[in-house]
Amino acid sequence: MTNRKPVVVVTRKLPDVIETRMMELFDTKLNLDDHPLAKTELIEAVKTADVLVPTLTDRIDAAILASAGPNLKLIANFGTGVDHIDLASARQRGMVVTNTPDVLTEDTADMTMALLLAVPRRLSEGERLVRSGDWVGWSPTSMLGHRIWGKRLGIIGMGRIGQAVARRAKGFGLAVHYHNRKRVHPEIETELEATYWESLDQMLARMDIVSIHCPHTPATYHLMSARRLKLLPAHAIVINTARGEVIDENALTRMLAKKELAGAGLDVFENEPAINPKLLALDNVVLLPHMGSATIEGRIDMGEKVIINIKTFSDGHHPPDRVLISQGQ
Ligand code: DGY
Repeated sequence: MTNRKPVVVVTRKLPDVIETRMMELFDTKLNLDDHPLAKTELIEAVKTADVLVPTLTDRIDAAILASAGPNLKLIANFGTGVDHIDLASARQRGMVVTNTPDVLTEDTADMTMALLLAVPRRLSEGERLVRSGDWVGWSPTSMLGHRIWGKRLGIIGMGRIGQAVARRAKGFGLAVHYHNRKRVHPEIETELEATYWESLDQMLARMDIVSIHCPHTPATYHLMSARRLKLLPAHAIVINTARGEVIDENALTRMLAKKELAGAGLDVFENEPAINPKLLALDNVVLLPHMGSATIEGRIDMGEKVIINIKTFSDGHHPPDRVLISQGQ
């Protein structure tokens, strides 16, 4: 890049403090009314930008990248997941992709625990009952849920967020089990008192709660298929704060409706923001609007990472959070 400030196009509204700093450092084009960009707007953005700052609501596919102008060399994603970006196409075109790992780990793990408590202890149902005005007072048999202490939690994907969940879960008296592409370091296993299962199928059959923490890639699409969901015991609950596409949502919904699974806590969905109406009709689910990492502290930290990635790249250095193509496979 030359000495001129890089043209940075940001696709969604970011925290004010981040936008202000970006305006100081770069020739920044903001989206102040925060509307999700239409395809034509995205095409316009990639034609004019040196750096694109998309979020998970933008589909940066091969066709969009094909319409990029010659200056677009960096896609500095605001977010950790990069399943909305065609990484292979970006690489072919010589574009670098960065993301914002680490800074949303603790917030996402907190939200996982919130769901992990909310489903078996029926928090949403209880809240609805109180607000409805139909609550007639305490009784020994009303609103009975299930204890989580002493239950088995199966974590699918033992990366940063999976480990942060395991740390919390241990404090809640859950026995931690996990399946991961690679077994984690023995020191981590010991710290978390975590049991590794090479076979996901075998693990599922023994779990009371399963929580998804792997990225969505072609290899993990519908990892929790109808067949695998059926391996879970009928009293099991499923938590997902990763990506909706990792679970076959229709199969999950059918099983929940037939009580072949006890419940689910979902922060992410296959076709966000659309949600299967049959899922909305169920009582044994807690549904959240993809807010696992939604803290102001987290969003500012994500923005700081985006700025550092752009600044280091435009100064001619390797940006710290470069996404390797293998992360998207
Ligand atoms: C991410 O960064 O990928 C998260 O899903 C945003 O909440």
